[in-house]
Amino acid sequence: MTDLLECSSLSKRYGNEPPALDEVTFSTETRGIFALLGRNGAGKTTLIRILATELQPTSGSASINGMDVLRDTNRIRQQIAVMPQEARLVPWLTPRQTIYSYLLYRGFGRKEAASKVRDALEKLGLGQYENVVNRRLSGGVKRRVLMSTILATDARILFVDEPTTGLDPLIRADLWATLRELKRTHFIFLTTHYLEEAERLADRIGILENGRLLTLGSLGELRAGMKYQVSMRILNGGSPFEPKVGEVFKGEDGSTQIFTSEEDADRLTEELVKEKRRFSIYPISLEDIFYYLVRRPIEEDTRKEPRENGDRHEE
Ligand SMILES: Nc1ncnc2c1ncn2[C@@H]1O[C@H](COP(=O)(O)OP(=O)(O)OP(=O)(O)O)[C@@H](O)[C@H]1O
Ligand SMILES: [Mg+2]
Repeated sequence: MTDLLECSSLSKRYGNEPPALDEVTFSTETRGIFALLGRNGAGKTTLIRILATELQPTSGSASINGMDVLRDTNRIRQQIAVMPQEARLVPWLTPRQTIYSYLLYRGFGRKEAASKVRDALEKLGLGQYENVVNRRLSGGVKRRVLMSTILATDARILFVDEPTTGLDPLIRADLWATLRELKRTHFIFLTTHYLEEAERLADRIGILENGRLLTLGSLGELRAGMKYQVSMRILNGGSPFEPKVGEVFKGEDGSTQIFTSEEDADRLTEELVKEKRRFSIYPISLEDIFYYLVRRPIEEDTRKEPRENGDRHEE
């Protein structure tokens, strides 16, 4: 059996709305971290809910390690744990009671559940809160309690929908360390709006837009699939700079960013040095790729031009 997450022409429509997922087809290994990115409403949570067997697709199919999301729901449910985007803790329970009762619900015996609770709370540095009622915890601590709830299970496949939203930078970094350690033994499917988080953590990245998968691959593969691999940013103002090669983007702050190929970057560098401009030069970041793939088609759509990047990288 192959260790793959596979989706084939997966579509989901809620009522008569435009499809939330539109013929999504891809396969990716179920190891390490897979980060799914996309704007609000792109369809990320819908995809997670279908894979977690909470929601049925309108058409198409999906499977995890050969288990079909429609036929093998019980087997899938035993092997996964899900942290939903909108998960809420029962306000009058404590973190310890929360995790303990969830483990009993998942079929663990009392003794085993109790020791797992202790380990899970320790792992996320929540020992001091174990007996404080949930309603008195801060938002960030609540998210960590939810995270430790799914870590306490034996599930090796984790779906975490925006696990770091609302966390302060230090706690987010702690959670990154936890996820990095976990990915040695678990498959983690996460969604995030923090592109830097995906860049740092993910082994593979997918970008959804309007229910369609725009691209999927490692950061290196995503870069290689782009028309331009280099990003140059002009740091000092003066007269507008119109390069002869590459493509210019104007930032909201008035800054100029130029995307260009590696060959043209040298020529452009000479040009900029001659003009006495200060500039930075980097391989394109995930943020650049995201903007290029997601924003450009939107701009083009509004200008009624054909979409150039629509499905180029679908796997
Ligand atoms: N239960 C529902 N009933 C009707 N429409 C829904 C339902 N859930 C989601 N949608 C719609 O489906 C589309 C995709 O929503 P989804 O929650 O999957 O997006 P998302 O990528 O997770 O967004 P976000 O980043 O805001 O969490 C949106 O247009 C949303 O309004
Ligand atoms: Mg969502």
